[in-house]
Amino acid sequence: MKTLIVGSGGREHALAYWFAKFGHEVIGVPGNPGINDIGKVYPCSPLDFDGVRQIAEKEKVNVILPGPEEPLVKGIKDKLGKDFFVYGPFSKEAYLEGSKAFAKEFMTDSGVPTAGYAVFDNPEKAHKHLNERKMPCVVKASGLAAGKGSIVCRTENEAHDAVKKIMEQRVFGEAGDIVVIEDFLRGVECSIIALVAGDEYVMLLPSQDHKPIYDNDEGPNTGGMGAYAPLPFVNNELLEKIENEIIKRTVRGFVRKNFDFQGAVYAGLMITKEGPFVLEYNVRFGDPETQPLIYLLNTDPELIIEKTKEFKLGSIELNWKNGYALCVVLSSGGYPGEYEKGKEIKGLEQIVDTDNIYVFHAGTRKENNRIFTNGGRVLGVTAYGNTLKQAKSRAYEGVQKISFENMHYRKDIGEKGFKSLEELI
Ligand code: AMP
Ligand code: GLY
Repeated sequence: MKTLIVGSGGREHALAYWFAKFGHEVIGVPGNPGINDIGKVYPCSPLDFDGVRQIAEKEKVNVILPGPEEPLVKGIKDKLGKDFFVYGPFSKEAYLEGSKAFAKEFMTDSGVPTAGYAVFDNPEKAHKHLNERKMPCVVKASGLAAGKGSIVCRTENEAHDAVKKIMEQRVFGEAGDIVVIEDFLRGVECSIIALVAGDEYVMLLPSQDHKPIYDNDEGPNTGGMGAYAPLPFVNNELLEKIENEIIKRTVRGFVRKNFDFQGAVYAGLMITKEGPFVLEYNVRFGDPETQPLIYLLNTDPELIIEKTKEFKLGSIELNWKNGYALCVVLSSGGYPGEYEKGKEIKGLEQIVDTDNIYVFHAGTRKENNRIFTNGGRVLGVTAYGNTLKQAKSRAYEGVQKISFENMHYRKDIGEKGFKSLEELI
């Protein structure tokens, strides 16, 4: 099978690694130097759908797999889906990620537990609501904001500032035309990705992202600074609850909406004392969660693609390596604010790809056989271990071998995995 993977991040490198591991050919558009080690890459924007089509035709690919949300929300499947199998949703289905207001309505209609909320398309009304509601709350730009559009506000002043920033200063552009203001939920976060085909689905292992830039979840949110899987504190009973109350109801909601969903759905959950609640949906694989998940997944992607095409996904059982995988993201100093690019990355050659550690590329660039930083999130050092502790120490041993000017990473990836659910919520 030949797959064209759209995107250039750690998630796309992990997906490419998965296909290649099972002997499939991979084309990266635009890819990155890590993907280029596995397959061919073409310099073309993920939003240039005619360009993607030309490459797909030339390479005679069997599948197009978009990694990031933007091409999906902007209709890559609407445009290319007649001629190619696009693994992912049509734009009307991707609206679940493209509009938080739509997602909240969908959850309410589908009986999926989510925080109480109100939606505003006008800042005066949003400010008036804030004068009357309880704090803390979360103010969210409804549209796409690269994972940075949600602001947790402890006080009324902070919430007014968040509305000003999103709706009046428009720091996220038109993504802030509408805001969702929702109740703050206390608990522990968990990412659940389900592969969906119509009314059938199969769930991946639970994983956890680390969104804030600094240790102990301090500082501004990023695209994700690390992840691990599975989560020791998600026991079978909780997993069953997540499946019944969230995944099944979500998939039933798709059917009710006449979606023929074929792709990955990601539910970002808050596990609270009252049970799991959905904070957000994504209509794709999560990043960085996909890096540890793929590192544990031993099922041929061709099987998943074929079963998805036939809408017969419910019959397959995924094959997971026992143990844990953990990914530490190395970022450019300054990210998620301004940062410099073009720093030479040293030490990559010291990490030999064994079954236990792998470095996924994200914001990197190769020139004359040297690798330079080229983005905010630069690399995802991903390691396997029989225990979470072992996966963690292997990943951080790997991190110690790599360096570039102003390199930053969190030192506490996976720490919540050593606690019990009672301690966490
Ligand atoms: P979102 O963009 O909705 O995924 O939110 C980004 C991050 O903000 C989440 O990963 C949570 O850490 C936090 N967050 C979002 N909504 C809530 C909420 N209702 N209660 C508490 N934290 C939230
Ligand atoms: N890990 C969060 C995301 O993929 O958006």
